[in-house]
Amino acid sequence: MKPAENLAKESIKNLKPCIHGGEVLDAAGKTGLRREEILDFSSSVNPLGPSKKAIDAAKKAFSQIAAYPDSNSNELRQAIASHFKGITKDNIIVGNGSTELMYLFADAFMVKGDTAVIGAPTFGEYESAIKKSGEIPKFVKLNNNFNVDPSAFIREMSGAKIVFLCNPNNPTSMLIPAETLTEIIETALKQNIFVFLDEDFLEFVENEKALSMINKIEKYPNLFILRSFTKIFGLTGLRIGYGIASEEIINVLLCAKIPWNVNCIAQAAAVAALKDERHLQITRELIKKEKEQLLSELSKIDSFNIFPSDANFFFINIRKSGFTATELTSKLLNEGILIRDCSSFRGVDQYFIRVAVKTRVENERLIEVLKRTVKD
Ligand SMILES: Cc1ncc(COP(=O)(O)O)c(C=O)c1O
Repeated sequence: MKPAENLAKESIKNLKPCIHGGEVLDAAGKTGLRREEILDFSSSVNPLGPSKKAIDAAKKAFSQIAAYPDSNSNELRQAIASHFKGITKDNIIVGNGSTELMYLFADAFMVKGDTAVIGAPTFGEYESAIKKSGEIPKFVKLNNNFNVDPSAFIREMSGAKIVFLCNPNNPTSMLIPAETLTEIIETALKQNIFVFLDEDFLEFVENEKALSMINKIEKYPNLFILRSFTKIFGLTGLRIGYGIASEEIINVLLCAKIPWNVNCIAQAAAVAALKDERHLQITRELIKKEKEQLLSELSKIDSFNIFPSDANFFFINIRKSGFTATELTSKLLNEGILIRDCSSFRGVDQYFIRVAVKTRVENERLIEVLKRTVKD
């Protein structure tokens, strides 16, 4: 038998796993601390965790684990349609985390010789999904302020199959201006290019409803919108997300996905989480208040250059502190604080970090350790 590596498809051989935040177990292993002793600012999810109603629904769904789950998550698709209005269950596909849908979309639509356009920096799995499909990503660097330059995108996307956009973007926490988004989508439509628009963090942005493109899927049949139960809903470990698009796109994806891709516990928890408007409201109020407070404290660290933030996390240039992101991350980890070292992001040098907004007590601990470690 030849080594398995030699027998793998070319596209798989060259794949490298993407680096992510939230690797708390790994961090615990490195420091000798227990998992519970680490405060995770590297993963930007709801600091309150999921709704209690979602947890209760998950517990109740344990009674169903002897049977297969609903392969197409119909009850949840109906619940999502009711939540947004103006769309039906046939406009929705549910995935094992929204990440599954990036891979599914690339796999279903990229054919030999296709390219896909991706911003830099942005979430790393778009690149991996394209490479896994066997095709080629093309990168468009964001401008010096980390904004999307519409003319660069429009120039580079000519002849591409898909454009990936993230709104607000990870790791920068910045929204794409509505006019820029519309210009890119309309140009893409004229050129038969899909726009894969990741709105996973939009629920943390004030005015989410007005900023979302969900109600534009009829106008733009080239548009696929990604959402997740990982972020504001806090169902992070259950792995569940969804996509919204024209029935035509959804039908292709429903045929292409594996059966039973989402387990019965995740489906039940997501249905209950959507109904708990109060938990979402409490979360939004907390993030608004704590984000202001955290920003005011972070701003007192003179050597930090904090970028304007639209989502529930901050993107910070720490060059003037004298630390690289890797050095600072390691120093903080010794004190039980995990932040995101952004040097693994394409288009970012070794001096950028990302920190999530958490609860007051947790944010205060971050600030206390940062002020002690970074002496201006
Ligand atoms: C912008 C963005 N999209 C998607 C994901 C993946 O989310 P999920 O947990 O739904 O797979 C992440 C995770 O960090 C992300 O930052």
